[in-house]
Amino acid sequence: MCGIVGYIGTQPAQSILVSGLEKLEYRGYDSAGVATIVEGNLDCIRAKGKLHNLRDKIEFATNRAPIGIGHTRWATHGKPEEYNAHPHTDTQRRLAVVQNGIIENYRELREELKKQGHEFRSETDTEVIPHLICQCFADGADTLMVAVQQAVHKLSGAFAIAVISADYPDELVLARQQAPLVIGIGEGEYFCASDTPAIVQYTRTILPLENGEMARLTRDGVEVYTFAGEKVNRTPRTITWNPIAVEKQGFRHFMAKEIYEQPAVVRTCLEAYLDLDWTPASSKSPFKLDLPESIYKDLENIQIVACGTSLHAGMVGKYLIEELAQIPTAIQYASEFRYSPPPLVPNTLTIGITQSGETADTLAAVEIEKSRRQNKDPKYHSRLLAVTNRTDSAITRVVDCVIDTHAGMEIGVAATKTFMGQLMAFYFLSLDLAHRRGTITPARLSEIITGLKVLPSQIEVILETQEKYIEELSHSFLDTHDAIFLGRGINFPIALEGALKLKEISYIHAEGYPSGEMKHGPIALLDAKVPVIAITMPGKVYEKAISNAQEAKARDSHLYGVVAASDKDATEIFDKVLPVPDVDELLSPVLTVIPMQLMSYHIAAMRGLDVDQPRNLAKSVTVE
Ligand code: AGP
Repeated sequence: MCGIVGYIGTQPAQSILVSGLEKLEYRGYDSAGVATIVEGNLDCIRAKGKLHNLRDKIEFATNRAPIGIGHTRWATHGKPEEYNAHPHTDTQRRLAVVQNGIIENYRELREELKKQGHEFRSETDTEVIPHLICQCFADGADTLMVAVQQAVHKLSGAFAIAVISADYPDELVLARQQAPLVIGIGEGEYFCASDTPAIVQYTRTILPLENGEMARLTRDGVEVYTFAGEKVNRTPRTITWNPIAVEKQGFRHFMAKEIYEQPAVVRTCLEAYLDLDWTPASSKSPFKLDLPESIYKDLENIQIVACGTSLHAGMVGKYLIEELAQIPTAIQYASEFRYSPPPLVPNTLTIGITQSGETADTLAAVEIEKSRRQNKDPKYHSRLLAVTNRTDSAITRVVDCVIDTHAGMEIGVAATKTFMGQLMAFYFLSLDLAHRRGTITPARLSEIITGLKVLPSQIEVILETQEKYIEELSHSFLDTHDAIFLGRGINFPIALEGALKLKEISYIHAEGYPSGEMKHGPIALLDAKVPVIAITMPGKVYEKAISNAQEAKARDSHLYGVVAASDKDATEIFDKVLPVPDVDELLSPVLTVIPMQLMSYHIAAMRGLDVDQPRNLAKSVTVE
């Protein structure tokens, strides 16, 4: 949440900062701002709302200052108004600060600083930082680095900050505590950003700051220190991915492009994690997950923590692990787990799922699991696995091992292709566990592997045959205020995911229920104005799910069915059918989620909403 950028070099900073902020807008878009140093003074420009409002206010030709910082905000403390936009300054407007995170003790600091004569102009937590740095100068700090260092010692919370000062026009100071911050190294010019896409067009040489580290960027180089002031030697690394991956490539929205990239995500995961030449006669494992043996040894329990769409992938994962590998698996919202973790049980694998690798709650849940298992009997020691799309992210530094979801950069706030990558991770993990534990026959294993291999072309079939139809259907949702999604068994999480997608981008109230639960209350909501979207795929709960759908139809609901292509009865039961290719029930979530994504996308686009940047949301939720 919130994106920060910084630049020091020889080029005009403003355009570099704004282009960096464009790449970070997925992190928040309530307001934006930039500050530069012009002829010994700060020039700070801020605007409410999306970045184009800021862009319209900047006169790029007249300000050629070669140093600056920028920010795009997701409001935590204080309304999304211009006076709360970053950068924030001290009373004399000599220092400017941008921050990503939350300063938890800002109230006490603010009161203390007010008593010392500092004048506050915003409702934000961040504004204490420039005043605090200014106070550190008043108390004797003799360099910007020292003043910032003294100030960060007084801050509690999770934060990443970038600071410039009109009195130190040739340096940019950074600090990081539990919020991402990466430095970009060019020739005679240096960058910083919350995420690499903001700087990759200028340099591929990067140096991520670690927690508890600060940096001083000048035109001569980068110095990294701990908060305690010890110098740190760090070797930069080169990133290899291509910036073209973060363009829309002819699609109207990133979300549409990302939905269409899903066959490729599945193919990449198949190549990464499966020996494609494996046959049941082979004595070798078909899987290439490359997890340490300590993860598997005497494994008795699994617990999964995640948020939002990642939680839904984990719910499918629980089903797969229990069904295939027969290991009891618990799943909990990371935000609940962190304050009420279950009693410790031995030989437990904890899996944190997060596409961004930054979600504060998921990160905290995994960290808590790590720390509460320290100094215990070895069988209680932590085993931590992250399923993530960002192998350079914060969670990867906490866990023992990682499964990369190989989805590539996802820009749309609504997760689609990263969810697909997460599902793939759980297919391979559950099958790998089942194979090792002997809970699956070679014939069944071979059957599922064969099914996995045809999934990419089956997704393509849905995209090719259904998209136009779903686009037309979306018009019938023009006046819809509420919708219900139903699924049973392994497709219950897909009903939840369908409802979440619809809520977050089309602002239609939607709920997902296990089909069998409807009659215990939610069925009272149904009438002709409430459409029901039911997933009824052949398998062990098919008949039950059909009966539950019919119960909804009997209450006048308009009934949409996500059904198997071969289901000849479907057109009699449902008002509209959304067929997907016939598939093993266990693999069906990979296909049933596609019509859900297309529906929510087209309904939001038809309503003229901002599909990629829905209101109040951000791609990366780095606050509690
Ligand atoms: C998904 O469409 C949502 N935007 C959101 O629920 C998201 O899945 C959640 O915030 C978790 O994010 P993470 O995967 O980066 O941890």
